[in-house]
Amino acid sequence: MANSSRLAGLVLLAAALAFALPAASRAQLQTGFYDASCPNAEALVRQAVASALASNPGLAGGLIRLHFHDCFVRGCDASVLIFSPNGTAERDSPPNNPSLRGFEVIDAAKAAIEQICPRTVSCADILAFAARDSVNLTGNVFYQVPAGRRDGNVSLFADAFTLPGPNLTATELVEGFRNRSLTAEEMVILSGAHTIGRSHCDSFLFKNRERLANGTISPAYQALLEALCPPTTGQFTLVTTEIDLSTPTVLDNNYYKLLPLNLGLHFSDDQLIRNATLAPFVDAFAANETLWKERFVAAMIKMGNIDVLTGTQGEIRLNCSAVNTPSSSSDGMIETILPDAAAGEVAAS
Ligand code: HEM
Ligand SMILES: *[C@@H]1O[C@H](CO)[C@@H](O)[C@H](O)[C@H]1NC(C)=O
Ligand SMILES: *[C@@H]1O[C@H](CO)[C@@H](O)[C@H](O)[C@H]1NC(C)=O
Ligand SMILES: *[C@@H]1O[C@H](CO)[C@@H](O)[C@H](O)[C@H]1NC(C)=O
Ligand SMILES: *[C@@H]1O[C@H](CO)[C@@H](O)[C@H](O)[C@H]1NC(C)=O
Ligand SMILES: *[C@@H]1O[C@H](CO)[C@@H](O)[C@H](O)[C@H]1NC(C)=O
Ligand SMILES: *[C@@H]1O[C@H](CO)[C@@H](O)[C@H](O)[C@H]1NC(C)=O
Ligand SMILES: *[C@@H]1O[C@H](CO)[C@@H](O)[C@H](O)[C@H]1NC(C)=O
Ligand SMILES: *[C@@H]1O[C@H](CO)[C@@H](O)[C@H](O)[C@H]1NC(C)=O
Ligand SMILES: *[C@@H]1O[C@H](CO)[C@@H](O)[C@H](O)[C@H]1NC(C)=O
Repeated sequence: MANSSRLAGLVLLAAALAFALPAASRAQLQTGFYDASCPNAEALVRQAVASALASNPGLAGGLIRLHFHDCFVRGCDASVLIFSPNGTAERDSPPNNPSLRGFEVIDAAKAAIEQICPRTVSCADILAFAARDSVNLTGNVFYQVPAGRRDGNVSLFADAFTLPGPNLTATELVEGFRNRSLTAEEMVILSGAHTIGRSHCDSFLFKNRERLANGTISPAYQALLEALCPPTTGQFTLVTTEIDLSTPTVLDNNYYKLLPLNLGLHFSDDQLIRNATLAPFVDAFAANETLWKERFVAAMIKMGNIDVLTGTQGEIRLNCSAVNTPSSSSDGMIETILPDAAAGEVAAS
């Protein structure tokens, strides 16, 4: 009897494990992931974001876009942050360079975190937290970020060209998002992030001349943009303008209200009201800000799940701008085994 009840116990244990194992191998992200390993992680990210936004509120848009551009290329694995000495990484590519910003905020958060819990918090998670904090500080909403992402170590210039560009049609926009398991509605919802932040002249000026001929942009608005952007057409320029001309630092639903007034800045923004499938979403979010914010938060969480590395995949980068070298990723074994001279060679190579 004792034996058979022990056996029954083992069977129960095995059954419990059988349930637990598939869950573990699915390795889903979870909220509170660092509660035990680094309880201050999220607070430190928030501090770094809040202090950066205090001196430059525009960085909120930069940080939200960093997370988006990370997730859409090789999944949310912080590949967008990797620095390449020869300028061949994602961040060097035209869709990201020179427009992407906020890298130094992520570096500051990472440095603060490494001091109290070394080798624990991934750069991909820091990006997701920083985007959430930017949403919180500009939009007065909060959401829990499921975490446990791991960092990748591949970042390629060419990959960034799969990011949706400002000249895409409604159909192309929907396809690009569907390819990342996001619906047409979620594309419209996430485009609402354009309620904050800026854009460079070459992202809109020339395409908008075609819209002017089409009657799909307010002539007064285009005249204002023409005056703002340097007249030397074709010349590369660093001039920028706010995407939402009414409330550029507040995460609200004004973006959707501007579109029917022909005040959408990018061709891609304007496309949302030119397509019969998408236009009703724009109307609904223009009419109900609470509705948009609810859906925006949910869509941000979903976007943060794209092709994530979890468990033992990837690595926890020590420096968000650089993949770990064999010596930096070791647990100290290599440093203690190698003579000083050899260790120096590894570090220098
Ligand atoms: C639907 C497809 C999208 C297109 C075609 C698009 C395109 C663009 C372009 C061209 C800019 C201006 C870049 C520049 O010249 O400085 C921009 C900025 C921005 N985008 Fe998007 N975007 C899209 C979706 C998204 C999504 C999904 C998010 C985030 C959830 C997002 C967040 C932002 C933010 C916050 C900025 C301002 C960045 C800053 O101020 O530094 N965009 N986007
Ligand atoms: C650029 O540098 C990376 C290492 O950082 C190297 O793998 C790659 O081959 C280099 N590419 C070119 C074109 O030099
Ligand atoms: C913003 O985030 C903080 C926590 O970081 C939270 O206490 C606060 O309630 C959030 N704001 C709103 C309006 O949800
Ligand atoms: C579609 O997604 C896959 C990976 O999720 C990516 O490799 C591919 O480049 C994407 N295609 C486009 C057109 O974005
Ligand atoms: C509107 O967008 C949908 C994708 O959501 C696409 O299937 C449809 O062809 C588009 N309509 C037009 C007129 O372009
Ligand atoms: C968008 O179209 C305009 C006008 O045709 C062109 O000048 C510009 O280079 C295009 N931009 C991108 C990112 O393709
Ligand atoms: C102009 O209108 C035509 C016909 O509706 C459309 O195919 C084209 O995409 C439009 N171009 C711009 C820049 O709005
Ligand atoms: C706006 O959306 C919220 C959230 O879905 C909903 O509770 C509310 O009833 C809506 N308000 C109106 C006026 O429809
Ligand atoms: C790439 O990441 C793996 C972990 O997935 C790590 O073991 C390896 O050292 C990294 N490769 C390089 C070149 O840094
Ligand atoms: C992180 O890596 C980048 C790129 O290699 C380098 O420029 C920077 O100095 C590194 N930061 C630290 C704190 O080591």
